[in-house]
Amino acid sequence: MSFLNDRIVESIAKTGCYVGASVIDAALVIALRGRVRFLQARHSLIAAQVGRATTRSSTTELRGDSITWLDQDALDPAEVRAMAMIDSLRGALNEALYIGAMDTECHYARYPAGAFYKTHLDRFGNHDLRIVSLVFYLNAGWQDHQGGELLIHHSDRESERVLPRCGTMVAFLSAQFPHEVLPATRPRLALTGWMRRRALVGQ
Ligand code: OGA
Ligand code: MN
Repeated sequence: MSFLNDRIVESIAKTGCYVGASVIDAALVIALRGRVRFLQARHSLIAAQVGRATTRSSTTELRGDSITWLDQDALDPAEVRAMAMIDSLRGALNEALYIGAMDTECHYARYPAGAFYKTHLDRFGNHDLRIVSLVFYLNAGWQDHQGGELLIHHSDRESERVLPRCGTMVAFLSAQFPHEVLPATRPRLALTGWMRRRALVGQ
């Protein structure tokens, strides 16, 4: 893990962004996928909202996923493993790059077939504490023609296309990369997280 942390830290230091295949092992992916399916069957996934309450009317044109937040005090064993990985990466990023990330908020997201998330920054509205965005994909046997790519828009080169294949992980500086999720022909599952700095008094 620490070798992997080093690679992720190096890539983020150089480019602000990291994309890697086979970052999480198959057993963990299967367990997390089982968990999000269980939560969906229990109707715990709810339509995602964007930003502050006053701007929520336009949500459905912007994003079509349903989410459920991880409760840090009630994690299942797979979630404990995932959070341990994320926390060790957060420690490595803090140590090497002084990003000052104090915790990580995470949610599962399920995009039904045809759903998308239009170009956005992860730092907007009440999300200005976010420093690093993370996405772990949980989809078995994803084919290129099924779509659902994450497009990361770079200022100095062509946009990067990431298929939501299980085991693939993406990390990027939340304030720097506009990105979007393209529609897919099948449901699309991910665990998404944001490393956050601590709010200043009054924030
Ligand atoms: C998000 C997001 C990307 C993805 O939830 O903010 O951009 O690939 N997700 O699921
Ligand atoms: Mn995003």
